[in-house]
Amino acid sequence: MTDMISRPSLKAGMIGIGMIFDETYRPFFEDTHAAGLFDRRFGDVEVPLTAVASRTGRRAEAYREAAGEKIASFESFHGEGATAALLAAAPDFVCVATPDDRHFEISRDILTAGCHLLVEKPSVLSLDQLDELTSLARQHEVLAKIVYHKLLDPDHKKLRTLYADGVLRHVNSGYCTLLEPKQISGDQFSEWITGRNPGTYVAVHYIKLIDFSFPGRLKTVTATGQRGLVGAADGPTWDSTQLRMIYEYESGREAAFDIHTSWVTPDNFPGYVEQEVQFRFDNGLWNGHSRKRGVECTVEDQTPISIKNSMNNHYNGTFLEPWGERSQRGYGIETIERFVRELAWLEHSEEGTRGERLATLASLAYNDLAADRQTVATVQALEAILEHQAAGEPDCVVRVNDPAGGLVLYRPGSETPEVLYAGTV
Ligand SMILES: NC(=O)c1ccc[n+]([C@@H]2O[C@H](COP(=O)([O-])OP(=O)(O)OC[C@H]3O[C@@H](n4cnc5c(N)ncnc54)[C@H](O)[C@@H]3O)[C@@H](O)[C@H]2O)c1
Repeated sequence: MTDMISRPSLKAGMIGIGMIFDETYRPFFEDTHAAGLFDRRFGDVEVPLTAVASRTGRRAEAYREAAGEKIASFESFHGEGATAALLAAAPDFVCVATPDDRHFEISRDILTAGCHLLVEKPSVLSLDQLDELTSLARQHEVLAKIVYHKLLDPDHKKLRTLYADGVLRHVNSGYCTLLEPKQISGDQFSEWITGRNPGTYVAVHYIKLIDFSFPGRLKTVTATGQRGLVGAADGPTWDSTQLRMIYEYESGREAAFDIHTSWVTPDNFPGYVEQEVQFRFDNGLWNGHSRKRGVECTVEDQTPISIKNSMNNHYNGTFLEPWGERSQRGYGIETIERFVRELAWLEHSEEGTRGERLATLASLAYNDLAADRQTVATVQALEAILEHQAAGEPDCVVRVNDPAGGLVLYRPGSETPEVLYAGTV
């Protein structure tokens, strides 16, 4: 793991090079290619992107062409066997940004090959898959981490800080909404959207925010949704979803959270996405609006289509820095850098033993796969409830750690529960 001038390195592989690669991974790899990654605890580490894999290879070639000197040379694999070919190139870690129902098999192959894993949210779609991946990570003594960049949003960090410090006390209820434009469902994801819903893909940000910020025990999941725009009104593809989670806290008191998502908002909406949260506490109220953070900009002939009126400059913005450089920065990129810094500390630091460093990193609930249980349970429940609704059985309820099993679906009018996961969530 050393290069020509004997710097330690972490070779990266990237599977899936679509929208999120372009927004967050690409700027991270380009910045690190130019400046390296430094920390006193692990030194000056190279992080070359050495191999990418995708379905057709077209976007990889377009990127190679566009990037020029901004990135070192990398191999590109596509089609059947692309993951295996990428793993044969022996990367140290691999990032997975494929559609959400293609995370599991690819992640399993990565961990089986003994490589560290960084997977986009939602990590996986069922607890059985989660169990298999966490057990592989332990067996191979590697990291298995997830990208939940909203946990690094400064507003969400402040919310969690006030709650953790007892300034805001006992959360009673809350709502979150994230609405994506039609362009996402109609164009961006058209290749894989059949049978999918916007809840699994985007509500998961807020499922995790709630689970991580207000740690309690997930008890019940209910959900419903609407169809008829992206697919047929009686088909399996969803325009919008509404999810409710009930949590119980150590005090025995409960809280309810509603998360509304859609990917059929008009494309001429004034922001890229609509994102709003409200949480109610015993002694306070938190209102957050990620879009209306204070900027409203109008440009003739451009807003609100090619440029939006309101923009989230905290997530990922392109800037002309005061000192003249062009940059792309924000918490979307910071999340990836943070993972690589943790990995560099694991592999290239001499603090304690590697086993101790691995245990420390595995205990970080914000990104470790093993800490994603209640989030994955909610996603699995949502998918099962929507599947039943599409099959003509609406209004199912999923209960967590119930006498019948870990994740149990109840259908109105039926005596027989369906056990989605037998083990304890
Ligand atoms: N962190 C975030 O807020 C955020 C935002 C957008 C997307 N995402 C996540 O990133 C993932 C990808 O989303 P996107 O918007 O970049 O999607 P996209 O459709 O733009 O890109 C998907 C990429 O995966 C590749 N791919 C598909 N199937 C593959 C396979 N079997 N093997 C190898 N490559 C394959 C495609 O070729 C393409 O390069 C999803 O899991 C999504 O939830 C996260």
